Amino acid sequence: MDEKSLIRAAVKARGFSYSPYSGFMVGAALLARSGKAYTGCNVENAALGPGDCAERTAFVKAVSEGEREFSAIAVAGWPRGGEPGFAYPCGVCRQIMAEFCGPDFIILTAKSPEEYETYTLGELLPHGFGPASL
Ligand code: THU
Repeated sequence: MDEKSLIRAAVKARGFSYSPYSGFMVGAALLARSGKAYTGCNVENAALGPGDCAERTAFVKAVSEGEREFSAIAVAGWPRGGEPGFAYPCGVCRQIMAEFCGPDFIILTAKSPEEYETYTLGELLPHGFGPASL
């Protein structure tokens, strides 16, 4: 799957965002090395703390279906009814990525399939603490 297709999947997943408290809608599409993509959206909660980010939703879905190796994730996040903007994964999501992915893992943050930025996990989480640190 190419980058633009992965972004399209993230934008589509954003449409399923359950975000009545923040109004900030996020979708993610995670590409496993198997070639299969797993999508996720943010799922908020009245108690606030239990809310889940789109990236983590995608990772939990993929890992719970047997995937362990990943090559890229696309993220599409901006406020409901607002102009598209770039959303960068939160610190907790970067740590979840570091559990399964190395520094070359690709992170795309996208406004659309035509407008996006590309980072590696190594750039967004330098000197991270991962399984190899133990
Ligand atoms: N959020 C994500 O799902 N991913 C990000 O990369 C940034 C933040 C969610 C969490 C919460 O539901 C809302 O966006 C506002 O923080």
